[in-house]
Amino acid sequence: MLNMAGINVFRGETQVLWDVSLVVGEREKVAILGGNGAGKSTLLQSIMGILRPASGTIAFKGDSLVGKKPYQIIQLGLALVPEGRHIYKDMSVWENLEMGAYPRRGRKWMRETMVEVTSLFPFLRDRRDQSAGTLSGGEQQMLAIGRALMSRPEMLFVDELSLGLAPIVIKEIFRVLEGLSRRTTIMLVEQNVEQALKHSERAYILKSGRIDRSGPSLELANDPDIKKAYLGL
Ligand SMILES: Nc1ncnc2c1ncn2[C@@H]1O[C@H](COP(=O)(O)OP(=O)(O)OP(=O)(O)O)[C@@H](O)[C@H]1O
Ligand SMILES: [Mg+2]
Repeated sequence: MLNMAGINVFRGETQVLWDVSLVVGEREKVAILGGNGAGKSTLLQSIMGILRPASGTIAFKGDSLVGKKPYQIIQLGLALVPEGRHIYKDMSVWENLEMGAYPRRGRKWMRETMVEVTSLFPFLRDRRDQSAGTLSGGEQQMLAIGRALMSRPEMLFVDELSLGLAPIVIKEIFRVLEGLSRRTTIMLVEQNVEQALKHSERAYILKSGRIDRSGPSLELANDPDIKKAYLGL
């Protein structure tokens, strides 16, 4: 479904990603892991058209993404829940959700999508007029996921889902994503290696902008080197 080969990405003069290649099959649960500054968010920004790779290819279901604008990439069926959520704090919950939808699809489409998205996180319906900045951290993360789902993506990227959230909230969000993953391909990007390996089938580990390791999540979780480096065991 997603096919990335040999991408090199710079931020200013500095090269941040080096020859990164990865594939994600339809409805396959893949995680991208790595510590601070490994290049995880840069990778997502390259997929979503926010950054342009200096070289390499990225394709989604055969369509090349390199050189496309973020809105075009969203139209192709990809959506990102960005690190730090970036919800519009002064706008209501409902307005935030509306921002995630295509304006051109019409009211009926919008209404149906709203029903679908708010059935995943019902509190969004109850709080529709509340200003988004007054939601708790976990609620804001759910709103950010809901907003990304308003474009009805086939593939959803979630950058640092668990950051700063209580374990019980993380568990609840993963439960919802688990249900969603039956029709949407979800890629998790996490510093929280333990959580991400638990909720994925396969993972890639980025280290200083390069793919350091990859394989089935279960295998990685039981690997002594990874246990030592990432799981504190
Ligand atoms: N806007 C920016 N301008 C310049 N350099 C940046 C920018 N954002 C990130 N970088 C640099 O790019 C490198 C990769 O950063 P990136 O944010 O992709 O890492 P990350 O794996 O997402 O880290 P974290 O887990 O902390 O979110 C880092 O060295 C970082 O300092
Ligand atoms: Mg990041």
